[in-house]
Amino acid sequence: MNPLDLLKSRFAEALEGIAENPAEYLEQIRVSQNPKFGDYQANMAMPLAKKIGKNPRETAALIVEKLRWDDILDPPEIAGPGFINLRFKTETLEKALLDTLADERLGVAKVETPRTYVLDYSAPNVAKPMHVGHIRSTMIGNALDKILRFAGHNVVSDNHIGDWGTQFGMIIYGWRHFLDKDAYEKNPVEELARLYRLVRQKADADPAVMTEVLGETSKLHHGDAENLRLWESFLPNCRTEIDRVYKRLGVGFDHTLGESFYNDRLGPLTEKLRSSGQARESQGALCIFLEGEEVPMLIQKKDGAFLYATTDLATLEYRVETFRPDAVLYVVDFRQSLHFKQLFKAVRQLGIVDEKTELVHVKFGTVLGDDGKPFKTRSGETVGLESLLDEAERRALEVVTANDKDGALSEAERLETARVIGIGALVYADLSQNRDSDYVFSFDKMLAMNGNTATYMQYAFARIRSIFAKGKVDPEKLRRGALETAQGGGTPLKLTEPAERALAIELLKFSDAVHSVLKDYRPNMLTAYLFDLAGRYSAFFEKCPVLKAEDEAVRRSRLLLCDRTAETIRLGLSLLGIGTVEKM
Ligand code: ARG
Repeated sequence: MNPLDLLKSRFAEALEGIAENPAEYLEQIRVSQNPKFGDYQANMAMPLAKKIGKNPRETAALIVEKLRWDDILDPPEIAGPGFINLRFKTETLEKALLDTLADERLGVAKVETPRTYVLDYSAPNVAKPMHVGHIRSTMIGNALDKILRFAGHNVVSDNHIGDWGTQFGMIIYGWRHFLDKDAYEKNPVEELARLYRLVRQKADADPAVMTEVLGETSKLHHGDAENLRLWESFLPNCRTEIDRVYKRLGVGFDHTLGESFYNDRLGPLTEKLRSSGQARESQGALCIFLEGEEVPMLIQKKDGAFLYATTDLATLEYRVETFRPDAVLYVVDFRQSLHFKQLFKAVRQLGIVDEKTELVHVKFGTVLGDDGKPFKTRSGETVGLESLLDEAERRALEVVTANDKDGALSEAERLETARVIGIGALVYADLSQNRDSDYVFSFDKMLAMNGNTATYMQYAFARIRSIFAKGKVDPEKLRRGALETAQGGGTPLKLTEPAERALAIELLKFSDAVHSVLKDYRPNMLTAYLFDLAGRYSAFFEKCPVLKAEDEAVRRSRLLLCDRTAETIRLGLSLLGIGTVEKM
């Protein structure tokens, strides 16, 4: 069992009879900032004292008196105004860590009450190439997808691609006026992307072109046979294009129900809202007036066209009916905050989604260039995602080649290693940011061997593996041996040095780190943990010789710590959608 959970259950017990609702005080058990004060600290005496009319130190004493600690903790100490300092017995930590040896989940329990999540992420507007911004929704979403499932929840991932918008009007218009047939036959996706860019430019410069583009879009939406046929012929190409990127990133979805999927539902939905009076006309447009909001949500324009919001209403209605979710998460750029605020308000008001169902806009900031402005190429264009992946791999290959001076890696191994490191660097750089913030894109920083990067973590992993290779130790055998020793009453893992103890306790925090991601859907809680772990490992490795340990028992015990570290890094990174390599 992980230390925090253990403490929580003990305190829940102790608080029974002292506090009316013990559960509300358990969040007050926290990691100590300074190891001098123990491993954890329980701070509930202060708020509780007020409630029960005693002073905080008395209250702390009362709690400690009722706490069952002697089998797992050193004697608790009451400090300052009423902090309770808690330090685990070393045996408790040793035992907890041994428990993870036969556990693929490394001690991370599944949640007791699984929820069903609909996870809406990536969702590019197809027909234009994916750009740097898409890495954010795609990889934050993918990490949440993996972590939610790992925690035991049911997840329905749905890629709500934009496959019905103006961009199709643009390429239909482009097709009619500027198509290069040969180019299309050779590489349809590239030609469509060229047409898109060309028409985009023309339409931006000339309102008359824009009007034509909108006309083509509207014809498509109204079932014009020719435009529908063109749209249908473009779509598979667009899908191939994004699927190629997903494959490189290791991302997949349960469903890809794009905007077009909901087209038939928009008319009936708006009619229903109109006739029930829930939507009203204002200056010719159909609107939902939201309680307490000045700006209404527009669902049908004067000319009859539906909007992004209309599709999202229909989508949410469909999702609730089909998947019966407890929560729907939208991993989308913060610039759509107003849209989601209105959407969430509207669906509650309309009774499409009940109060019990959680709706969250998991928002994120912008990827910036060196100049602090949205990341663009030198010529001012948005940066294509694929070229970014190529570049990351190319630069990673330089790092790998420079590292592999003695040529231990074959050509194929080097390329594969560069792939894992390059993509990992890009993904980790994104996930390690507080998602609300913008961040500055920098290949040099993300591929640094030191610092909070995937490269650093992957390198720590590979170094541990090389210890095993060098010592000719098979980790699987080591684990089995340790479990047998423990069963026979022995102690295969001994934490004697402070650095060993510190590493062990960090390892045991993995479970909290995983679950903490899900509190507010923040993958950077896990990257921060992995970074701390790698730091503790370095400190341990500096202080404590492993292969050259003073005797065989210490050597094995330290190898176990190395192995737990490697496995935690591997599992942690994989939950973020990042790979590891044995050698680099
Ligand atoms: N396609 C949209 C865009 O690129 C994002 C869609 C997000 N999901 C949603 N249900 N609105 O801006």
